[in-house]
Amino acid sequence: MAVAEGLAKTQRGSAFLSSPRKMLINGEWVDAASGKTFPVYNPATGEELIQVAEGDKEDINRAVAAARKAFEEGPWSKTTPNVRGKMLWKLSELIAENADTFAELESLDNGKACAMAKAVDVAGTVEHFQYMAGWATKIDGRTMQLSAPGTFGFTLREPVGVCGQIIPWNFPLMMAAWKLGPALACGNAVVLKPAEQTPLTALLLGEMIQEAGFPEGVVNIVPGYGETAGAALSAHPDVDKIAFTGSTEVGRLILQAASGNLKKVSLELGGKAPNIVFADADIGAATAGAAMGIFFNQGQVCCAGSRLYVEKKEFDNVVGGLVDAAESMNIAPGMDPACELGPLVSDEQLERVTGFVERGKEAGAEALTGGDPVDGNGYFYKPTVLTNVNPDMEVVREEIFGPVVVAQPFDDIDELAREANDTPYGLSAGVWTSDISKAHKMASKLKAGTVWINCYNVFDPHMPFGGYKQSGIGREMGSEVLDLYTEVKAVCIQL
Ligand code: NAI
Ligand code: MG
Repeated sequence: MAVAEGLAKTQRGSAFLSSPRKMLINGEWVDAASGKTFPVYNPATGEELIQVAEGDKEDINRAVAAARKAFEEGPWSKTTPNVRGKMLWKLSELIAENADTFAELESLDNGKACAMAKAVDVAGTVEHFQYMAGWATKIDGRTMQLSAPGTFGFTLREPVGVCGQIIPWNFPLMMAAWKLGPALACGNAVVLKPAEQTPLTALLLGEMIQEAGFPEGVVNIVPGYGETAGAALSAHPDVDKIAFTGSTEVGRLILQAASGNLKKVSLELGGKAPNIVFADADIGAATAGAAMGIFFNQGQVCCAGSRLYVEKKEFDNVVGGLVDAAESMNIAPGMDPACELGPLVSDEQLERVTGFVERGKEAGAEALTGGDPVDGNGYFYKPTVLTNVNPDMEVVREEIFGPVVVAQPFDDIDELAREANDTPYGLSAGVWTSDISKAHKMASKLKAGTVWINCYNVFDPHMPFGGYKQSGIGREMGSEVLDLYTEVKAVCIQL
């Protein structure tokens, strides 16, 4: 605990880090039923930041019971769409007022640059809750002209019920917002399990959820490990829907666990996105986009542009620019205002990334820059550009989830599309070209949930996000997310 002293600059952040954090169940901050806590680390130093209550099956049971009660009979069950919308908007304002605190806790917990956390994660969270506040009053069924004689039919959109939500560590606050925003706009009750590496901003968000006036039990937040708390939530017989963001491997486990009571499942999983640069592109913009596409958030991004394809005649030019960009990045702790690349989230992630690159080099890949961890404390890994790879190599096929890009030249557009789609994933893709026809052709050929043309990593709450193939099931954001958090009831009246 002592190590956390003085790390946070805001008063609320210091207060938050000054004692072990509890979990939120039925409107109360409580210890785990077992009394256990687990350590949360500062990835810039490897030192312990704080202890957090360790949720397990018993806590999940209590949280699900609280959510069920709130959903079926609490004041939430009678709350109007207008009031739900106002609560969500109020929540967005509280987050905006506490932006510095959220940003510093996110930086200390995850490792990302504090300035980036404020500009991207916190700002994106505020915008997301505001967008979903607007939806609360716009969720409609439809009327139908039925052929059955003398009948009138209509549909209602009703909340699904108790939603379990399991989120990852790469954008801890924003992933909480993507999950909670639509669930609450539609009138559901929630049990949220943050990632064990990064539970802090979700817990601070819990405080704001109370301040915004959401009744007890509507949002329960149970930190803990995946194999225990996460598994209990996804298997729970009284959870109606489970939403998950994380690895494809765990996505499969969630799907299996959900089969017991056939709960609805939405999954946002891994990716190995092709980022494609044609020779006719604005090469400066494409090179900068290729760098941002892989190095943003230390490469710990499901839609990272981790497979770079460059048309042969510009290959050396673009890859040279990418190497320069990598070598000019200021690698520093996230709380250092000059930080451009922070540490990876954990020693486990550092080991995972190191292992991928080592095996890649053994298989013949060449690191034009980087290729190993930074010496010293913390979980820093050098931004890395690998070439001399082939489509069968592990570094080309598997999600590395670090600042590591594999670059390959191409010269034929059809062959390129086949290669770009030769992956079990299909989350996102990037295309850089000044030829509008080529842009449309590629957008249509690429099997991915999002295709960015002459940009990368652009998000908007009104733009649906999710995966083809093994990158997931369902779409978050946009009007599409309402399908995940509502049931459709058809009503037929004999007149
Ligand atoms: P993970 O998939 O194990 O963790 C994500 C969340 O799932 C965490 O909250 C974790 O506690 C929970 N979880 C783990 N096992 C569970 C289980 N059996 N039942 C229910 N919940 C469970 O991801 P991990 O191990 O942290 O990272 C491994 C790889 O996953 C990364 O290297 C990356 O490739 C990928 N990943 C993808 C993310 C994305 O945004 N799509 C986010 C995080 C990781
Ligand atoms: Mg895991």
